[in-house]
Amino acid sequence: MNPELRIFHDLGKLSRHAVNLFIEQSTRSIIERDRFLVALNGGSTPTRLFQLLATDFRDKVEWNKIHVFWGDERCVPPDDAGSSYGQAKDLLLSRVPIPDSNIHRIHGEREPAEASRDYSLTLKGFASPPLHVPRFDLVYLGMGEDGHTASLFPGSPVNVFEPAMPVTAYYQDRPANRVTLTQLVFNSARMVVFMATGERKAITLAEVLSGRYNPELYPAQRIDPKDGELIWLVDEGAAGKLPRKSRRKICEG
Ligand code: 6PG
Repeated sequence: MNPELRIFHDLGKLSRHAVNLFIEQSTRSIIERDRFLVALNGGSTPTRLFQLLATDFRDKVEWNKIHVFWGDERCVPPDDAGSSYGQAKDLLLSRVPIPDSNIHRIHGEREPAEASRDYSLTLKGFASPPLHVPRFDLVYLGMGEDGHTASLFPGSPVNVFEPAMPVTAYYQDRPANRVTLTQLVFNSARMVVFMATGERKAITLAEVLSGRYNPELYPAQRIDPKDGELIWLVDEGAAGKLPRKSRRKICEG
């Protein structure tokens, strides 16, 4: 794993940088392949990114060429407060001129195994031969305090053959059904961008980036695109336990 680390003063600057990556990657992908395949994350960290894309940067994106997917979903109806699709719809997708047919959500209201099978088929429909999965142009991921990413949790089953799988997760003492894409898909992407903020993630982030490979404990370490870029955007809080020399440079956004 050879990730690039970019540290920002706060979530605002980090999110602005994440927006710039969206704009650069979408512009390049549309020129080269006439479409842009992006996978979004859930959780609180991407909300500022979604708001910026829907407002200040709305006109910098060719929305009719954008195809939106999700790295994972909580198994709740789309209008539930916990739905990652619902969050992205409220903050971003309902505010930009993206065709409905370009929004490929995971059907969290269905039974998890069924939702996962359906989503595997959706993903296969965008496969990039010779792969039987898509090569996402950009994947955004978050990281939990326990080192999970998407819904690849410590102790979750590992599936490297299917694009998506159902997972029963126990995070912050709450059992939850989820559907997640697998490392097979994440590691086929052209660019993966992690976003992590806050001191509470600092110890885990230091472990994940330490070079000591322990993916059963820190599933975020499973993300290592074979033929793509891996970029970590973190704030000063999350960076607090990284070696001093890697914390010297603060990016402006
Ligand atoms: C989710 C994501 C999950 C998330 C991390 C970080 O929907 O919850 O799949 O992997 O990205 O838990 O969440 P925060 O951004 O809220 O810290």
